[in-house]
Amino acid sequence: MAKYLVQNNGPLRGEVVISGAKNAVLPLLAATILADEPCEILDVPPLRDVDVMCRLLRSVGFDVVEDYRVGRVIVSPQKIINDEVPRELVKQMRASILAMGPLLARSGRAAMASPGGCTIGARPIDLHLKGFRAMGAVTTESADPDAPTVAEAKQLMGGRVYLDFPSVGATENIMMAATLAQGSTSIENAAQEPEIVDLANFLNKMGAKIKGAGTDSIRVEGVPSLHGATHTVIPDRIETGTFMVAAAITRGDLTIHNALPNHVKAITAKLLDCGVSVEETDDGFRVRGDLQPLNPTDIKTMPYPGFPTDMQPQFMAFLTTVEGSSSVVEKVFENRYMHIRELQLMGARIATEGNNAEIQGGYGLKGARVKATDLRAGAALVLAGLVAEGVTEVSNVHYVERGYADFTGKLKRLGARIEKVED
Ligand code: EPZ
Repeated sequence: MAKYLVQNNGPLRGEVVISGAKNAVLPLLAATILADEPCEILDVPPLRDVDVMCRLLRSVGFDVVEDYRVGRVIVSPQKIINDEVPRELVKQMRASILAMGPLLARSGRAAMASPGGCTIGARPIDLHLKGFRAMGAVTTESADPDAPTVAEAKQLMGGRVYLDFPSVGATENIMMAATLAQGSTSIENAAQEPEIVDLANFLNKMGAKIKGAGTDSIRVEGVPSLHGATHTVIPDRIETGTFMVAAAITRGDLTIHNALPNHVKAITAKLLDCGVSVEETDDGFRVRGDLQPLNPTDIKTMPYPGFPTDMQPQFMAFLTTVEGSSSVVEKVFENRYMHIRELQLMGARIATEGNNAEIQGGYGLKGARVKATDLRAGAALVLAGLVAEGVTEVSNVHYVERGYADFTGKLKRLGARIEKVED
């Protein structure tokens, strides 16, 4: 297994270009299952999770050409030879579940091992299945964890579904399946993330009839088939936020290109709250943490447009360096505090009670051997390592590389001292 060696090398300064969004490109690739012509996705980030999704598409019979030199993936539909997604792919990547709706709509059946939980939570798929049933599918889940979960429907019919929680994946899966249903489908209490709008834009380019994506009420009028389309992935708002926080935690001065201010309003608001300077530029931001002493703040993670749960670990790492008391409340996942123990090993003063965390910042961090427990926790530990005294060893960095393209390269070009070594 590989690890990063990170050392404090002063404030980060310079320019960074944000890559295409992991959490947009995965549903976009899954959506190509719905098309009966080739689709071309551009600005695809070279990530492991993208490769897993491409392998999934091949496993069900599609021809996939990945060209990361130019950030392009072309998916050409063939006859769906297999409606069961291989177990090892689902286990490697929970987002494999996003192929279920398209497979069900296209072939009348979709079977996949339950993705199961991960370190941040149980991650159930009940809302995905509830949506498929609302469109007339029969779903079967077996008590045997090795048996696949199956959804079947000769022809999906339009229906109405209310999501008990505005689940991103469930909204995406149901929206994709509904594009080929007979009649209209409405999704109430839908998630409103920008990745859902990007997916709806791509599906509408393919001939779907979707209205309301980005609001809590989405309407889909089913059509008989979808043709091919070309689409450029939106920039990654969580990578954007991660580099904004990198400027804050190192008291640096970063110019961030290929970023959409509209997608990171909650992060910007909280950084401004702390006294970080955030100026919009014509293609992103200039973020400065070096202009004045910074002050603590409180964050509560919520579904979009609230403060994103995927930025909670990174922001917490930053708050440990700001003098005074800050609080964090994690409202989306039930176990997204695994990074706290690791930050405490670095000397952070964080106390937790349930999903509340109280941070006493400004006591300094010291290098330690820590481990990434999930993608964003890993990024948070790297950020902490940039300002800790001595060397920080972050292990399990495969988690980080699932979601950040060329993370060490981008950081090095900003003046960070970070090396990847085999454990
Ligand atoms: C997406 O996961 C993202 N992943 C996650 O990013 C992100 O943290 C999450 O949305 C929330 O924003 C991708 O887009 C590939 P959810 P998803 O369904 O769709 C509960 C990262 O770091 N729930 O919105 O799986 C669930 O338990 C990753 O890039 C149900 O109860 O998230 C959780 O508490 C991590 N039943 C809450 O909803 C369901 O059927 C949010 O989950 C589905 C979800």
